[in-house]
Amino acid sequence: MMKKKIVVAVTGASGSVYAKLLLDKLQQLRSQIAEVGIVMSDNAKQVWEFELEDKTHGNYPFKYYAKNDFMAPFASGSARFDTMVIVPCSMGTLGRIASGVSDDLISRAADVILKERRKLILVARDTPLNLIHIRNMQTVTEAGGIICPAIPSYYSKPKTIEELAMTVVNRVVDLTGLENESYRWEGI
Ligand SMILES: Cc1cc2nc3c(=O)[nH]c(=O)nc-3n(C[C@H](O)[C@H](O)[C@H](O)COP(=O)(O)O)c2cc1C
Repeated sequence: MMKKKIVVAVTGASGSVYAKLLLDKLQQLRSQIAEVGIVMSDNAKQVWEFELEDKTHGNYPFKYYAKNDFMAPFASGSARFDTMVIVPCSMGTLGRIASGVSDDLISRAADVILKERRKLILVARDTPLNLIHIRNMQTVTEAGGIICPAIPSYYSKPKTIEELAMTVVNRVVDLTGLENESYRWEGI
């Protein structure tokens, strides 16, 4: 299998735990990965520090890019990144992507992934949803993106917040195409 080049974008929606667990998992799966680029919005850092009470978002052994760094490789299709995960994805970022506003590195990279027909996974988070959110999700889906809402499942009987959050993260990892051992429903 070709090693993957993955962009992980973190935005200021609630659910920083999903970003943390995904980045932890990508570290474990490094043998399958050529490169991970991380880009965080300003609010992402603030929400992470508030919700998780740490500043570990800056500690991963991956390459970090500033949110306005349009010189980043994945700001161009020629860099051939395979996959972009936006986790968690705010309704603001969803809206910028749906309307083609490429005014920061996250929305530009998403625009590039869609135009190159590669895989864009949005771990969208808000509740309840208004019609603008729903229409934006439809637009991104029609453009080839995957809306993978931050909605955990319970049938694996998770006992901790991390186990619950992993039910979402494992689905995201499956969508990236990386090989991952995780709980799988086998029927009853
Ligand atoms: C603690 C906290 C939780 C938030 N949760 C959400 C959320 O779940 N979904 C959402 O769309 N925005 C949420 N927001 C608002 C976003 O951070 C805000 O709209 C921001 O402008 C999004 O910009 P970004 O996508 O560039 O990070 C939250 C803000 C804070 C401070």
